[in-house]
Amino acid sequence: MPYENIQVETRGRVGLVRLNRPKALNALSDGLVTDLQAALDAFEDDPEIHVIVVTGSEKAFAAGADIKEMADKSHMDAYLGDFITRKWGRLGTCRKPTIAAVAGYALGGGCELAMMADIIIAADTAKFGQPEITIGTIPGSGGTQRLTRLVGKSKAMLMCLTGWQMTAEEAERAGLVAKVVPAADLLDETLKIADRIASMSLPVAMMTKECVNRSYESTLAEGILFERRVFHSTFGLEDRKEGMSAFVEKRQPNFRDR
Ligand code: HXC
Repeated sequence: MPYENIQVETRGRVGLVRLNRPKALNALSDGLVTDLQAALDAFEDDPEIHVIVVTGSEKAFAAGADIKEMADKSHMDAYLGDFITRKWGRLGTCRKPTIAAVAGYALGGGCELAMMADIIIAADTAKFGQPEITIGTIPGSGGTQRLTRLVGKSKAMLMCLTGWQMTAEEAERAGLVAKVVPAADLLDETLKIADRIASMSLPVAMMTKECVNRSYESTLAEGILFERRVFHSTFGLEDRKEGMSAFVEKRQPNFRDR
């Protein structure tokens, strides 16, 4: 399906979305977010797709929500229109593994979007920031919450209260990103990781993701109980039997996603 604000392609079992509003540094307009939601829905529904990668351009992953679109909104426009929540969170609710490949600016809603992904891979040019306070508002799509969990209170406060931008290297040290790579290699390196995940059993990858995410939502004891129940359930999978048999027989497993 052709989209106006994004480009979508598949690379084997990987679904790739490129944010594509170059003139506005991929500012997240309503149209872009609508396109992104539709593309993510389609990849989630496609049984051939195991992993979803979201990326931007060399200059910007996304420079935030579209300020020109927001400028004249009233409180009631935002409240009654459920501004942000309805569509914006889609990347964060994907059940399949997701990776954000970030080069250049990931600011405001752009940083929040990247943080909705399971893994962030950053180009050495990446800059992460929550500059909303400089335009008289606050992060509205998880920035104060996800950033705090990822980098801790002090750094999150610094970023949200001053708009200070974190470099890729700092973001890796702080635990915001999993890996920093040279900008020219960003997509290749990201796709290598995506392909590796895509070679696993899809239900097991989805269960793994569910368990890691559970750690955000529960006490340690509840999380460990949840993990154990899911672990036990893998013994009902053909892929679990195949994986262990392949190891014993010294061959590569042939997972069939069941
Ligand atoms: C709309 C934007 C935009 C944005 C850039 N542009 N960011 N348009 N919304 N968030 C547009 C500019 O207006 C300009 O259009 C073109 O993109 C190029 O931007 P420049 O500013 O000329 O580029 P540069 O000098 O390189 O500066 C890059 C930049 C700066 C540092 C990233 O653009 C910037 O500060 N952008 C805003 C960042 C921000 O405050 N983000 C948070 C938004 S609030 P023209 O037509 O002039 O060429 C937010 C709230 C989230 O995200 C709430 C929940 C989702």
